[in-house]
Amino acid sequence: MALEKTLVLIKPDSIQRGLAGRLIARFEDKGLRLVGTRLLHMDAARAARLYEPHVGKPFYDGLVKYMTSGPIMALCVEGYDAIGQVRTLMGATDPSKAAPGTIRGDWGQRLDNNCVHGSDSLESAARELPIFFEAHELCDYEANFTRWV
Ligand code: RTP
Ligand code: MG
Repeated sequence: MALEKTLVLIKPDSIQRGLAGRLIARFEDKGLRLVGTRLLHMDAARAARLYEPHVGKPFYDGLVKYMTSGPIMALCVEGYDAIGQVRTLMGATDPSKAAPGTIRGDWGQRLDNNCVHGSDSLESAARELPIFFEAHELCDYEANFTRWV
């Protein structure tokens, strides 16, 4: 398994509901480590850059409106197979179909308030991380627990 970095966004609904700490804990509990964090309110230009692959889809306008409706928290998390592990922790895109035990299964009800974003591939992570972090803003360190997880 390769050590990977991936982008997690704690979406506006989760920030408004005060879930940020509990969501971060889910990733930390899994053994993923935080290497970058940032609280920001995305503007339309940044959202358009993030969601460029979804341009033209029926949900695009609503998605950009949702994701620019309030502050979000951007996380860069690192770990073995981090991209796949984050996606597994998140659960299915539609919270009404997401399995209990997953973030969306535990905390979401509707597709347009689905709590979190996670990069879906190595290519996506490489494209998305620079939208939120410059290289010097990421901390390169070995966490003490790394060899135990
Ligand atoms: P994400 O990008 O947020 O990690 O979620 P995902 O990979 O599971 O889903 P994706 O297909 O990339 O869709 C991005 C976000 O758009 C909203 N969506 N709405 N109304 C709809 O049919 C629809 N489909 C997607 C969701 O907020 C989804 O997370
Ligand atoms: Mg996606």
